[in-house]
Amino acid sequence: MDYTKVKLPTHVAIIVDGNGRWATNQGLNRSAGHKEGFLNLKKLTKYIFNKGVSYISAYLFSTENFKRSKVEVAYIMNLLTDKLNEILEFCHEEKIKAVFSGRVTHMSDKVIKTMEKLTEETKNYEGKTFNICFGYGSHAEIIDATKKIVNDVNNNVLNINEIDESIFNRYLYQELPPIDLLIRTGGEQRLSNFMLWQLSYAELYFTKTYFPDFKEEDFDKAIYEYSSRDRRFGGINYED
Ligand code: FPP
Repeated sequence: MDYTKVKLPTHVAIIVDGNGRWATNQGLNRSAGHKEGFLNLKKLTKYIFNKGVSYISAYLFSTENFKRSKVEVAYIMNLLTDKLNEILEFCHEEKIKAVFSGRVTHMSDKVIKTMEKLTEETKNYEGKTFNICFGYGSHAEIIDATKKIVNDVNNNVLNINEIDESIFNRYLYQELPPIDLLIRTGGEQRLSNFMLWQLSYAELYFTKTYFPDFKEEDFDKAIYEYSSRDRRFGGINYED
C-alpha cells in the first residue's frame, strides 16, 4: 500500500486478543499462543513505527488477567523478564522509547526491575514511543490520576481551578496524545477497560483475525479503512 496517499494516525492502540484461541486451533497450549503473539508484536511494532506512526499503545495484560490460571499468568510475566535482552536489543536497534502503563501491585520484584530497566535504558529516544499496558485497567488509571491530583491540590502544588483536560492527561500513567485508531483483534467488539480517557474520539477497528495472524498487510487494511473515515470530533465538516 502507498503510505504517502493515506491519512496516518499519530497514536495507534492495539488490544492484543486471540492468542489463546490461535494456539488451541493449532492443537497447542495457550502459552504457545502468547509466545507467537510476542513474536508478531515485535514485527508489527517495527512495521507500524517505520510507516510513520509516533505512538503505539498495546494492551498486553489487564488488571483482570490476574484471574487467569497461575501457569498462564506466570508464563506472560516470565515472557517479559526472559525476553528482556531481546526487547532491549530491539528497542535500541529501532530507537524505540518503551514506557509502561499499569499498577505494579501484583508484580514480582523481578518484573518491576525489568520494566524499570527497559524504561531507563530507552528514555532518551524520541519519535517512537511504545506504551506497554501491563497490569493495566482504565478505571484504575483514572482513580490513580484523581488521587495524585487531590494530593497535589492538598499540598498546594496544583490549584483546583487550573484542572482541565490537558492537566488531567498529565496525571495519567503516561502523558500521551489522544488515540486516533484502535485495533482489536480476536473478534470481540468491546473496549474491555482499555484507555477510556485516551480513546474518546478514536476510530475503532475490529477484526476477527487472531493476533498471531494479524500481519503487516492486515495493518495496511486497517489504515486504509481509517483513512477513509470522516473524523469530525463533534463538529461539522463543511466540505460535505
Ligand atoms: C490476549 O489473548 C493476550 C494476552 C492476555 C497476552 C498478550 C501477551 C503478549 C502478546 C505477549 C507478551 C509480551 C510481553 C512483552 C510481555 P487471549 O489469551 O485473551 O486470547 P483468547 O481470547 O483467545 O483466549
